[in-house]
Amino acid sequence: MQRWTGPKLTYADVTPKAAWLGRRAFIAGAAALPLATRSAAAATLQGKTSKWSIDEAPTSKADITSYNNYYEFGFDKEDPERYAGKLTTKPWSVVIDGKVGRPGTYGVEDLAKPGALEERIYRLRCVEAWSMVIPWIGVPLADVIARAEPEPGAKYVAFETVYRPDEMPGQRSVFGGIDWPYVEGLRLDEAMHPLTILATGLYGEPLPNQNGAPIRLVVPWKYGFKSIKSIVRITLTEKQPPTTWNQLQPREYGFYANVNPNVSHPRWSQATERVIGAGVFAPRRDTELFNGYADAVAGLYSGMDLRKYY
Ligand code: MTE
Repeated sequence: MQRWTGPKLTYADVTPKAAWLGRRAFIAGAAALPLATRSAAAATLQGKTSKWSIDEAPTSKADITSYNNYYEFGFDKEDPERYAGKLTTKPWSVVIDGKVGRPGTYGVEDLAKPGALEERIYRLRCVEAWSMVIPWIGVPLADVIARAEPEPGAKYVAFETVYRPDEMPGQRSVFGGIDWPYVEGLRLDEAMHPLTILATGLYGEPLPNQNGAPIRLVVPWKYGFKSIKSIVRITLTEKQPPTTWNQLQPREYGFYANVNPNVSHPRWSQATERVIGAGVFAPRRDTELFNGYADAVAGLYSGMDLRKYY
């Protein structure tokens, strides 16, 4: 099913009515303007619509920003909202190095220039079997990597979260067994796929700290843990880089982590997902292969045994 060829909506067109009424009150002065212009009046980060967006109503902003996984700030879903405000996100730069012709240090404003921003409405499917629909604002990772000029030997891309234990209480504790900083990785062709973005905003505003400000990865056909937050380094490598959850529990979390309803986690099924914000009596949703993006990404894995490379 080719969800992304649907109408080019922005979140303002599909936001549930209650949220929309709230927005109307907020932008009351603009009430006489046409729909698209009104949403622009409320947005501080403008993203062009994209054919890669799904045409589904996003989860509420309240849920997207209060139900988070960001272990640097604690293990409970409410911890990131409670504690991530302490993280200093300005100024912020990202080192791009390794097998590239033009290594360098780039400011976030330079990596995600206002004129290049796109809105990407994607489903986020967590390995814990819940999902949300998030209206991200960001830029294709491919554009950022191309600027650095990958060398022929580059096969993988490694990502690293900021290490700042004085601002991130979780990094001071050895309780979770995580070897900080959080690290992730993709194969170069996965990183260059047009669905893969670096996000700097959501719901038309800069990313809240709990969602990975000021810049985070979003890879919508993979479990959410691949979408690493608050990135400070992107390194092109020849060998497959280590990844945090794989190091912690290699039998449970693979390098690929493609969403797959047919391959169970050793401790639970991945066939269905709880839809955040749908209410306690709502039915679970059937999880889709590659999170609904099979037509776009299955070719990246042709000939690979998806049970072995989970
Ligand atoms: N990145 C870092 N640095 N630390 C984390 O704990 N959690 C991951 C991912 N990125 C995590 C991270 C997991 S498990 C998920 S499901 C998503 O972030 C959640 O993103 P969200 O809170 O914006 O919904």
